[in-house]
Amino acid sequence: MTRVIGVVSGKGGVGKTTTVANLGSILASHYKKDVVIVDTNISTSHLGLYLGMYYCPVTLNQVLKDEVKIHEAMYDYHIPGLRVIPASLSYNDLKGVDIAKLKHVLKDLFGKTDIIILDSAPGLGRDAMATLQASDEVIFVNTPFVPSTMDIIKCHQVANDIGTKALGVVLNMVGKEKYELSPQEIEQLVELPVISMIPMDKNILKSLALKVPVVLYNPNSPSGKEYKKLAGKLLGIEYKPQGFFTSFLKLFGIGREKQKREMITKDEIKRMI
Ligand SMILES: Nc1ncnc2c1ncn2[C@@H]1O[C@H](COP(=O)(O)OP(=O)(O)O)[C@@H](O)[C@H]1O
Ligand SMILES: [Mg+2]
Repeated sequence: MTRVIGVVSGKGGVGKTTTVANLGSILASHYKKDVVIVDTNISTSHLGLYLGMYYCPVTLNQVLKDEVKIHEAMYDYHIPGLRVIPASLSYNDLKGVDIAKLKHVLKDLFGKTDIIILDSAPGLGRDAMATLQASDEVIFVNTPFVPSTMDIIKCHQVANDIGTKALGVVLNMVGKEKYELSPQEIEQLVELPVISMIPMDKNILKSLALKVPVVLYNPNSPSGKEYKKLAGKLLGIEYKPQGFFTSFLKLFGIGREKQKREMITKDEIKRMI
């Protein structure tokens, strides 16, 4: 049976897209699942940018305009088992998109993949509501601060109203500083378990500049390891840390993704929009 997992937050910039790109990559590469990740943040889409997929001729926008079938907007990533459905980066492609069709168009993928992960828009606008409605299960991404936590409380209430099962909170950008909310405080406020704590990690920013998820760029980084644990948890599999020998090799960069990556250029950005 295909699982549809929404990755949602009230506030923007908390790490949803980062989480989707990394979960998709690690579920496919390490846990050998067949995964489709979908950019359902139609108005301010980013998922393709995080994966170096800029010039996609067909996107979810055309699917939601009834112009093409969803399979035509699906692209193989370079990891076997991972496919991506990007949304358009162009303002012109927003016209005529009906995000309310999302739940319906995803049905064509049921039974053809193990897991569909939806990268939501923030807040509770049309895009985000459509994502919540299309999801069977939802993960809330939060930071250890009051404003984003207040928004998650609201998102959780909405998910309950809709009947979407909340799996828990991914607490991201954790610095373990005194001024941060603790995971216990967040659990009490949100009334959900904190299922993962991703540290504030420069490797994530480096990996973004290189257009590759951190679990591939540096799997043994603090955030890379946490994403691997989280993916295992979603599958009900206990994460086993690597043996001494593999960790030793990784420490020296052996086993990291070898593909040469270039930073994104200003010209590339101009061509995309
Ligand atoms: N754990 C982290 N440590 C450092 N930077 C992070 C972390 N998680 C996300 N970021 C950075 O924060 C920014 C926002 O993340 P993003 O995934 O785009 O958030 P959202 O999709 O919720 O808007 C990006 O620049 C991303 O690289
Ligand atoms: Mg995003």
